Amino acid sequence: MDFDVRPQGGSGKSPFRYPGGKAVLTPKIYDALSCSDCEISGYAEPYAGGAGAAIELLAQNVVDRLYLNDADPRIFAAWNAILDHNSQFIDRIRDTEITIDNWRRMHQLVADPRTADSEFDLGFATFFMNRTNRSGIILGAGPVGGYEQSGKWKLDARFYRETMIKRVEFFADKREIIITSNMDGVKFLRSFKAPLARSTFFFIDPPYVTAGSRLYLNTMNEKKHRELSSALKRKKSIKNWMMTYDDHPLIHEIYSHAEVGSFPIRYSLQKKYNERELLITPRSSL
Ligand SMILES: C[S@@+](CC[C@H](N)C(=O)[O-])C[C@H]1O[C@@H](n2cnc3c(N)ncnc32)[C@H](O)[C@@H]1O
Repeated sequence: MDFDVRPQGGSGKSPFRYPGGKAVLTPKIYDALSCSDCEISGYAEPYAGGAGAAIELLAQNVVDRLYLNDADPRIFAAWNAILDHNSQFIDRIRDTEITIDNWRRMHQLVADPRTADSEFDLGFATFFMNRTNRSGIILGAGPVGGYEQSGKWKLDARFYRETMIKRVEFFADKREIIITSNMDGVKFLRSFKAPLARSTFFFIDPPYVTAGSRLYLNTMNEKKHRELSSALKRKKSIKNWMMTYDDHPLIHEIYSHAEVGSFPIRYSLQKKYNERELLITPRSSL
């Protein structure tokens, strides 16, 4: 890994919009990755979503092998479509008209993935919804500009075609170094055996205790949050990790085995607002 230049936070290079995307944490992750005795060769996100931080680090040549896992089959399909069928994906971005009729067609696919003819179609529909729905929410938020398209912003307000093409093109030769999976995050963590677990850095951004359910797929409940904490506590081969969470009493309670700090984050949902979130690291790390 190349540690010559400390990367900037940046507004993001991921093709996806994600509520609370974590590209802003890139410099902090970089510092943790560059610890002299860590010998890290891979970087993994068990709850990847748009993988804002991972893509920023990859673009800045800081990481050279990525593991992106997400339990949502639609997100998994979108990453696979971009990585496996890159030029076809770019053609689709170029050729798809940003209309409410197309929005309705794509909406049907993400609402019921079984109706998609292929993983590629589901993946593209997921991307389309992410770019044309309010706040990047894939399901349940409604189109930018409303169904009547009478709002100030129209459906294509965040569908920056040329920028999206460039962001997707970036992945044209990345299939071999990006490993995608579609598992539960804790199962994914447990699937790393030593020595791979020891040489991998995990950036963990799970659905939050309170904010999660309306923004993206949230399969987490209190039991799952506890399970994740105890997996990190017990699995000694996972030594290098960093996690973000909402500032909730449950998280303070279950991460008493770790270092719990906080950082400011700017959400750009309908209303822009600033909040503090928790930044959790293993006791021995920083
Ligand atoms: C907070 S978002 C991650 C945002 C990401 N860090 C970014 O910058 O775009 C959480 C992600 O976890 C996924 N997810 C929900 N439950 C999961 C589970 N049990 N295991 C793995 N992923 C899960 C959701 O689909 C969502 O994409």
